Amino acid sequence: MATDTALSPPATATTDVLEIDSLSVEFATEHGWTRVVDEVSMTVPTGTTVGLVGESGSGKTVTSLAAMGLLPRRGARVTGSIRMAGREIVGLPEKEMSDIRGTDVSMVFQEPRRSLSPAFTVGDQVAEVVRRHEGVGKKQSVVRAIEMLDSVGIADAQKRSKLYPHEFSGGMCQRVMLAIAMVCRPKLLIADEPTTALDVTVQREMLRLMKQLQHEYDVSILFITHDLGVVSEMCDRVNVMYAGQVVESTDIDGLFDDPRHPYTEGLLAAIPSAHKQGTRLSAIPGAVPAPWDWPSSCRFHSRCPYARAGTCNSEPIALQDVTGGRAVRCVRHEELTLKGFGV
Ligand SMILES: Nc1ncnc2c1ncn2[C@@H]1O[C@H](COP(=O)(O)OP(=O)(O)O)[C@@H](O)[C@H]1O
Ligand SMILES: [Mg+2]
Repeated sequence: MATDTALSPPATATTDVLEIDSLSVEFATEHGWTRVVDEVSMTVPTGTTVGLVGESGSGKTVTSLAAMGLLPRRGARVTGSIRMAGREIVGLPEKEMSDIRGTDVSMVFQEPRRSLSPAFTVGDQVAEVVRRHEGVGKKQSVVRAIEMLDSVGIADAQKRSKLYPHEFSGGMCQRVMLAIAMVCRPKLLIADEPTTALDVTVQREMLRLMKQLQHEYDVSILFITHDLGVVSEMCDRVNVMYAGQVVESTDIDGLFDDPRHPYTEGLLAAIPSAHKQGTRLSAIPGAVPAPWDWPSSCRFHSRCPYARAGTCNSEPIALQDVTGGRAVRCVRHEELTLKGFGV
């Protein structure tokens, strides 16, 4: 049927709660300005959980701190675009950014104890967020804090809201962090290795809780981890990062069934079972080089079993779109996929 599309209004409504476009971050180091995140683009579609995966030092935390507006204003240069719920946040004054933090986006970190203040009760720390963002009175904020502590599974929340972080276990502190992050109902939760410091049983409970909160609070999640077991349980899509760049972007089935980048393949091969919980990405020989040593060619070539001299070590490699809404940064990806890895 013919329709007059010229008269249709343009589709302006954003369906991505987070849109990162060509984000680069440089730090002032002893080597001069050093780029540690290099033209990263990724999105978190509303209602989904997107993973950000890669070994230590690949730029995951710096990317998420940029999305929170938490990088130091001096000593860090941020370029590119980060749109949070449709609003550009790169270059936003701190006053406006601090309003966005908590209401549009919030974050939980790997070390809950370090993020909580030892000097205030857990209840006060949740209540303070409510007062700051919603301007409600003390009494009402305390009621909200207790309700939220109850929602994150802290039994006898009224009584225990009066305890201090040191009186809680690591797992309980992470629940308090989640309560602080979720109490003003953000649109996006950034979880940076939230279960890495926890033992396996507590880790499972935390993942279950996060899924439950996602459902109840309608929150989208950017989930940072180096644990592919966690990825398989939590994520709809995944961005694999290596040395400051996205090297593969795929839905979750593509990651496990049909990896296209040799680094992704290496991450999968590094674990005995891709779906096994709690395994670490450690078996690819070598390590992520320091940012000032990143080559201008493929950054993975020195560790890649398929690297071909003359191309992989000589020219910059672009991230290419491939079918199925996927992207990969490898000149040999078609050839390797046709033959299967290991040929
Ligand atoms: N404030 C900083 N100043 C200089 N370099 C930094 C700073 N923060 C992080 N880096 C460097 O940026 C790179 C990426 O770090 P990070 O994002 O923490 O990696 P990941 O979270 O993937 O382990 C690392 O090489 C790290 O040393
Ligand atoms: Mg990190």
